[in-house]
Amino acid sequence: ADLTRRNTFGVAARAPLLVEAEDAARLPEILATQELQGAAPLVLGGGSNLLFAADAPGAVLALTGRRVAIVQDTDDRVIVRADAGVEWHGFVMQTLGLGLCGLENLALIPGTVGAAPIQNIGAYGVEVQEAVHAVEAFEPATGELHRLDREACAFAYRDSVFKHAPDRFIVTAVEFALSRTASPKLDYAGLRDELGARGVDSPSARDIADAVIAIRQRKLPDPAVLGNAGSFFKNPIVAVDLADALAAQHPSLPVFRGAGPDTRKLSAAWLIDQAGWKGHRDGDAGVASSHALVLVNHGSATGAQLLSLARRIADSVHTRFGVALEPEPRVIGASW
Ligand code: EPU
Repeated sequence: ADLTRRNTFGVAARAPLLVEAEDAARLPEILATQELQGAAPLVLGGGSNLLFAADAPGAVLALTGRRVAIVQDTDDRVIVRADAGVEWHGFVMQTLGLGLCGLENLALIPGTVGAAPIQNIGAYGVEVQEAVHAVEAFEPATGELHRLDREACAFAYRDSVFKHAPDRFIVTAVEFALSRTASPKLDYAGLRDELGARGVDSPSARDIADAVIAIRQRKLPDPAVLGNAGSFFKNPIVAVDLADALAAQHPSLPVFRGAGPDTRKLSAAWLIDQAGWKGHRDGDAGVASSHALVLVNHGSATGAQLLSLARRIADSVHTRFGVALEPEPRVIGASW
């Protein structure tokens, strides 16, 4: 099967077999078929968080279930369950249309509902973990269907139990705890500025989604126009001493809260930009000119070329600042 149009980088890649499953309850049967031979397939959602540095080594599984249902409705709190195959942005807009708040800061993120908890997608001051009530996941090795509550998902910055052991679970559905009452999350300065520029004083959830959409459209290339997978690197979490030393040398370096009192999160985009990579191009593999953290495919770059560019960027940032960068997308067919 051809996967070129199933990854948002738009790099050429193939898989020996592509299986689509609509009903997660049928997974045991599907995974036991002779073609799959019980091996864990690579699960593909929107293809927006992976880089094919080589062809898929084995079968690829796409979950196509698209049901959305309200499963609990109390006065204020509403639990909405969505199948893994539901498109993320459409789902966010659907919840807003139902008058439900909680996902508005996460509008326009490419990908599917099933992929959202895996790397704990986050943007504009909110991470999806804040709204996750439970995740349903099938474990091929045991044949069990689990329901993990938020605690069991071990969420952290761009991380979860699902990311730790990439082939252990197949996320089949997610339940979100949303609210009928808006509680605007306006920690991200750029979001407050955008709302201010629009003359919005006390924003509704819909106002916030509109502002987020506008910022994203301005800063991030549309994968449908220019192949990319969003941020290619995670913002590095470093020891507080290193962060302090770098900030003393470079007063404009953005430094954020880390994972605890001893760490800080630095801006990978700033480090890459300062190292001179923004807008750089090696053939068709490049760095977006609108955002230093986004690698782009200008046409026919291969995954291996994009990976090689990513490694050169990480090496140069390491040489210059002593900070190690790690990719955010899952790299298939090569190790970082
Ligand atoms: N910056 C530069 N040069 C650039 C771009 C940014 O120096 O070309 C500096 C600026 O100082 C800016 C800072 O970097 O203030 C941070 O940039 P931005 O606000 O765009 O956010 P980010 O840290 O680069 C993260 C997420 C994005 C998310 C935004 C907004 C990661 C790896 N990325 O990017 O998520 O949309 O914040 O919340 O955490 C994604 O994960 O794919 C993604 C796009």
